[in-house]
Amino acid sequence: MTILYEQWDQHAQHVAALLGDDVTVVTTAQYLTDAVNRDPEELLVVFGPSTALAEAVAFAEHHRSRRSGLGVILLRHHLDANVVAEAMRAGVREVVPYGDRMALIEACARSVETSEQVSEDGGPPDPDAPTQGQVITVFSGKGGTGKSVLATNLAVALAAGGQRRVCLIDLDLAFGDVAIMMELAPERTIAAAVPVADRIDETGFRTLLTRHRSGVDILLAPVQPADADQVTRDLIAELIYLARGCFDHIVIDCASALSDQMLAALDAAHHFVLVTTPELPALKSLRVTLDTFDLLDYQRDRRTVVLNRADSKVGLSAADVEKAIRMPIAAHVPSSREVPASVNRGIPIVLDQPGHAVSTAIRDLANKRFLGRSPSRHRRRLLGRFTETRKGAVR
Ligand SMILES: Nc1ncnc2c1ncn2[C@@H]1O[C@H](COP(=O)(O)OP(=O)(O)OP(=O)(O)O)[C@@H](O)[C@H]1O
Ligand SMILES: [Mg+2]
Repeated sequence: MTILYEQWDQHAQHVAALLGDDVTVVTTAQYLTDAVNRDPEELLVVFGPSTALAEAVAFAEHHRSRRSGLGVILLRHHLDANVVAEAMRAGVREVVPYGDRMALIEACARSVETSEQVSEDGGPPDPDAPTQGQVITVFSGKGGTGKSVLATNLAVALAAGGQRRVCLIDLDLAFGDVAIMMELAPERTIAAAVPVADRIDETGFRTLLTRHRSGVDILLAPVQPADADQVTRDLIAELIYLARGCFDHIVIDCASALSDQMLAALDAAHHFVLVTTPELPALKSLRVTLDTFDLLDYQRDRRTVVLNRADSKVGLSAADVEKAIRMPIAAHVPSSREVPASVNRGIPIVLDQPGHAVSTAIRDLANKRFLGRSPSRHRRRLLGRFTETRKGAVR
């Protein structure tokens, strides 16, 4: 069941028709509260385009911790960056332009999926509960394949708005890009761990982290490339060990080198995400990396190959790539100018445009490979509806 809050009858009918049979339309804030309180299983509230932003913000803030499984989606006649920011800060899951039917159906599907994850995981995590987090290294021997784009977005997707504890480590120590890609001021970086390397504990480790608004905690790379050499293999191993005690997932953005420092991370990894593009030098480098991993005894079933810019028309197909590397590709991330645009804005595309094909590919990878989830029944139903809507639009 979905609750739609909208005062204007014409808008209410239009949106309700898109949302399907199970919709309760309410026309006042009091009716909305009554409807939500009546059904503790309720997963989704859509605020229609005529509702006041302040009402949606107050509602989302009130229910964020009390009913973390309840998703709030806001429809607006025009998308304004300030409105989107205020709504998201309050806990609104997505702001969708009124009239974009597909965007609405997809946003609803994503929200229902998030709600289900919340109920499976038992709500937001207790930040102090002990854990033994899984380490995911994002690596390629070739520069510029998309490691940092993938690592930042993967971390945000895994965090799912703060539902899981995720630490992102920028291990491209000399030229790390994570601070720029996530618009963070590098006030604290891994360089601060160097003078206290032999006596750092969990509390000390936490002080090195920078919190991103997605809920991801980030260990940033040094500002000065010269500081990179001071970060030893032992220190990296120690920091990863400490991170495992505080986080569910530790995503590591690696430099393009099989240096001692990178080996510290790779040795600690539970999953190796290997990024490539459909170009011969990148493929050659991936082949060499896979051979080196064999020599290092890194398990094959822990390797995940991601083909970035998969749809680039450059003469090499996905099948050619699989033949060259002699293993299957786990995820195909399309090429899009929205990726550099999101990098320049300093907002990971998964956060900024959750419905974009690049975001969907990265979220699916997170779900399937690292969370062991496949699309839920609710989601399939809503997506089925989305497909029907799309067919209707074409006709
Ligand atoms: N799917 C994509 N579509 C379009 N552009 C992309 C895509 N993925 C990455 N890019 C662009 O490619 C460039 C390199 O990406 P990124 O910095 O993530 O690579 P990297 O492997 O981390 O590079 P480096 O080895 O320098 O650290 C960036 O400008 C990014 O915007
Ligand atoms: Mg990088």
